[in-house]
Amino acid sequence: MSDVWRILTILEWTAGYFKQANIESARLDAELLLAHVLGKDRTALYMNFDKPLLPFELEAYKRLIQRRAKREPVAYITGTKEFWSLDFKVNKNVLIPRPETELLVQTLIELRKRKAAHPLTILDVCTGSGNIAVSLAKELPDDRILAGDISSCALEVAKENAKLHGVDKGLSFYQGDLFAAFKGSNLAGGVDFIVSNPPYIPTQELAGLAPEIDFEPRLALDGGVSGVDILKRIMQDALKLLKPGGYLVMETGISQTKALNELGSNSPKWAGFKICNDYSGLPRIALGKKG
Ligand SMILES: C[S@@+](CC[C@H](N)C(=O)[O-])C[C@H]1O[C@@H](n2cnc3c(N)ncnc32)[C@H](O)[C@@H]1O
Repeated sequence: MSDVWRILTILEWTAGYFKQANIESARLDAELLLAHVLGKDRTALYMNFDKPLLPFELEAYKRLIQRRAKREPVAYITGTKEFWSLDFKVNKNVLIPRPETELLVQTLIELRKRKAAHPLTILDVCTGSGNIAVSLAKELPDDRILAGDISSCALEVAKENAKLHGVDKGLSFYQGDLFAAFKGSNLAGGVDFIVSNPPYIPTQELAGLAPEIDFEPRLALDGGVSGVDILKRIMQDALKLLKPGGYLVMETGISQTKALNELGSNSPKWAGFKICNDYSGLPRIALGKKG
């Protein structure tokens, strides 16, 4: 790197450097990290391409470039990720929210519109950063939303996000193993919606994923030998908590859909069970209606 760097030249250099490190979103990542260092949004970079970086800005940027070149995800470096048009705090204790998970939020909101106007009860199981629960609390401020996770460190992040978005009053958090987290809440047969994005990657597949995944908590990803362990437990236990006519809306991996369909169609307690496609046409959402 030479001594005087302007915004455009350093972005071009960094994008090239990231490409050599096999980072696909090289230019975007270079921009996100520089915008973070300068405390601006990306459009401000485009308006100031000729602006030279001050020495302390350059030093700070170099440190972030080194982290990203080791394949640390941008979201962990900047400490933030956008989901449902909201900025969520993230750290190494939580999965980085994925854009496709927004479909869970959208599906639940659409189903909610068909129900009564009085406040309903919604559970978010495996809440992680709280991205789903907080987004729902913003959209459905009159409903009672409870969110749980087995990781108390993840729950700390979720609580921070609830506060950040001003929904910490209507949303409560519980620590524990799936539905055991809510055991003191007297919910049996009283829940209108259960939403969940649980871990569903088969253990063996974890090692072959992008290097960025190694930075994320294994607890958030590992779904057991074939990825279905937690998905199946949620499907079975959801039936005890849901009201008749209540819904389970759950994200799944494509290779787990056959097992879930079998389980859903073999249980007469589900009035309906199907796998819905995501925005890319891939079967990724398990949707069950309790009979
Ligand atoms: C795939 S992440 C999803 C996080 C977040 N809801 C999202 O959509 O980005 C799964 C979460 O499930 C939690 N988890 C894993 N096993 C669990 C269990 N047995 N009971 C409750 N939570 C669990 C992990 O700590 C992690 O936060």
